[in-house]
Amino acid sequence: EAFDVVVVGSCMTDLVSQAQRLPRAGETIHGHKFFIGFGGKGANQCIQAARLGAKTAMVCKVGRDYFGENYIQNFRDNGVSTEFVGQTADAATGVASIIVNDAGENAIVIVAGANMLLSGEDLQHALPALSRAKVLVCQLEVSPDTTLQALRLAQENNVKTIFNPAPAIPDLDPDFYRASDVFCCNESEAQLLTEMAVASIEDAGHAGRELLRRGCRSVIVTLGSQGCVVLSGQEASSMLHHVPTETVTAVDTTGAGDSFIGALAFYMTTFPEMPLQEMASRANQVAGVSVLKIGTQASYPSKKDLPSKLF
Ligand code: RIB
Ligand code: NA
Repeated sequence: EAFDVVVVGSCMTDLVSQAQRLPRAGETIHGHKFFIGFGGKGANQCIQAARLGAKTAMVCKVGRDYFGENYIQNFRDNGVSTEFVGQTADAATGVASIIVNDAGENAIVIVAGANMLLSGEDLQHALPALSRAKVLVCQLEVSPDTTLQALRLAQENNVKTIFNPAPAIPDLDPDFYRASDVFCCNESEAQLLTEMAVASIEDAGHAGRELLRRGCRSVIVTLGSQGCVVLSGQEASSMLHHVPTETVTAVDTTGAGDSFIGALAFYMTTFPEMPLQEMASRANQVAGVSVLKIGTQASYPSKKDLPSKLF
């Protein structure tokens, strides 16, 4: 079976509290709402691609526990293949404790648990799917070794790669850059990786050039309400585009970046000839819809919820 999008990445159960503001160290505050949702950057990206119509498979590991069972059902409900979803008794399903304030901002602590047990052996098992996918998508919520191995396997098989270095680590193995067709990060990740300040569109362009120099084929630096910057081509002659986004009143921005990447993966597989900046512009519009609702996957739009001009 050939998939459009294969994601090698994380699943987390999101435990979300909404409060007026984020607490300070040592402080207890009252929140006004609590809910449990499906999250994890890898799964979020996979679910968004699936909701837009991509044929998707998830390569991941959950615990042999209630959250894990539930998560597998969530993939089925969204039409994601669970053939390569492993379950382990050695660790619990990953969880993310999330606090969302009234401005729609968040603070997150993840305990990756079973995600960290996704291994090279699991990749070998998924190789038939991985090697025939149109696009592989990876992040940094499973072991970096497994992630880099997945990207390399994709490259060896001429599968396009999207790498999202989130959450960012300062000493990222330089091979990650060379293994990325599209290296897609937000402003704070770009800042951490390049050690350059990234506050403006201009800054994002400079940081993006540096990331290109490290060997990525294309770079996207997302800038929240300022849209994103897209760079591709050889560093000297690289083209830089700023892609603006419509201003929306955000209720919850958690997982908006994942919605963007999932949508990007969908566009890369469905419209491979489309210029990257046009894909980014459309992916921005998809992610823009997700911030209007509370929750991560719970807020991701399906094809039927979106204007036909996006397809
Ligand atoms: O990017 C958002 C996601 O980050 C959440 O769903 C949470 O699970 C964390 O992994
Ligand atoms: Na949302």
